[in-house]
Amino acid sequence: MPDSAHSPLHTVDLIRKKRDGGTLDAREIGFLVAGAASGSIPLEQLAAWLMAAWLQGLSLEETRALTLAMRDSGEKFSPTGLGKKAVDKHSTGGVGDKTSFLIAPIAAACGVAVPMISGRALGHTGGTLDKLESIPGFRTALSLKEFEAVLLECGASIVSQTPRLVPADRILYELRDRTATVESPGLICASILSKKLAAGLDALVLDVKTGSGAFLRDRKDSEFLAALMVATAEGAGTRTVALLTDMSQPLGAAAGNWIELIEALELLRGKRSPESEDLLELSLILAGWMIHLGNQAGTPKEGYTRAQAALADGSALKHFFDMVKAQGGDISAFDDPLGFHNPGAVEVVPAWERGFVATMDTTALGWAVQRTGAGREKAGAPVDPDAGIVFHARRGAFVEKGQPVATVYATEEAMLPEPVDILKQAIRFTKTPPEPVDLVSRVFTRESAQEYLRDAVR
Ligand code: URA
Repeated sequence: MPDSAHSPLHTVDLIRKKRDGGTLDAREIGFLVAGAASGSIPLEQLAAWLMAAWLQGLSLEETRALTLAMRDSGEKFSPTGLGKKAVDKHSTGGVGDKTSFLIAPIAAACGVAVPMISGRALGHTGGTLDKLESIPGFRTALSLKEFEAVLLECGASIVSQTPRLVPADRILYELRDRTATVESPGLICASILSKKLAAGLDALVLDVKTGSGAFLRDRKDSEFLAALMVATAEGAGTRTVALLTDMSQPLGAAAGNWIELIEALELLRGKRSPESEDLLELSLILAGWMIHLGNQAGTPKEGYTRAQAALADGSALKHFFDMVKAQGGDISAFDDPLGFHNPGAVEVVPAWERGFVATMDTTALGWAVQRTGAGREKAGAPVDPDAGIVFHARRGAFVEKGQPVATVYATEEAMLPEPVDILKQAIRFTKTPPEPVDLVSRVFTRESAQEYLRDAVR
């Protein structure tokens, strides 16, 4: 094949090159991304290339080129008119991960602008946008003008990538979900960072999950992803840190759509419960970093203290409601959030053994949540806002046989058995308590990420 800088490119050659373990240059990657965004490359060819990239992996240079090409595939947002540092956080995806509903208003209440471009349910994980759309009237597809107006009014706004903003990710994200090509460090890095870099952020906090519910379960793989994302974002000029956080069990008690908002709202209202402690702690830590990187606190620890204060004085709750209203949401649904919850079918699952909750296959639990109707099997299908699972026992808790371990909310009776069966396979009890796991096990900054990657690729 001719290989000069000006020779015409053909998609099939680029698929073959990747399939055979070759490395694509920035021009070749730019060609694929432009074709994805414009629709000129058919989905079957994109899917084949994604699978080749999943199987062969992407080099650091390919990952960087893919990230930048995707970032540049559409319009960009410029936060300079907001008059504040723009800082966001993004997670690599988990089960019951609802930190955004706490973090965005907390950071906004502390003087940071939070322009958040989020995703929908992907694989076994839930989607921030799907959850928010369980609020009646809430709009996630805002124009950039509307996005800016909400940010100026409320300090935070959570929106979807649109056909004009990072269009390449919109296409590739859905395609990866349908072709089992999600769990790839390079593809995850490019998908997440393209959205974040298109938002023109001053700084970014990444929540990289590790453990049984993460896309990359193995600790070494999660570390590599964290270092890769920090180095790639820093290389593109955005100050970035990544925290490696535990996903060996769902985060907090609820996993679904409206039920996750109920849990987040309880915390915003200052109500605490043992099942939500890890969610609260992680949200405060992540918000603390955002407040620090947004120049509103000298250290992440000071940022944590400011985040606690914003929860305690109600300013975070006010920012949350302001954002919901500004994006068309009806906040009266939160007057009686439990009363507003209207699932088609409910089953309480009692513990089938006596003992300590020892291990959870959290990916399986994520699929169980999806099967209740809370997630989608086909791109574009609607999700049931009322479906999901509330987990009553955390890892390490002692339960008596018969004590409720979960409540399953499904769209209809016929959909209850599958998630209940998965749940029974996914949770294991033991006679002795399991080893505790750190909620945050490592922090990557620019320096530590570069050092890690130097060692990893040596
Ligand atoms: N979140 C994203 O936006 N993309 C991924 O690939 C994984 C999580």
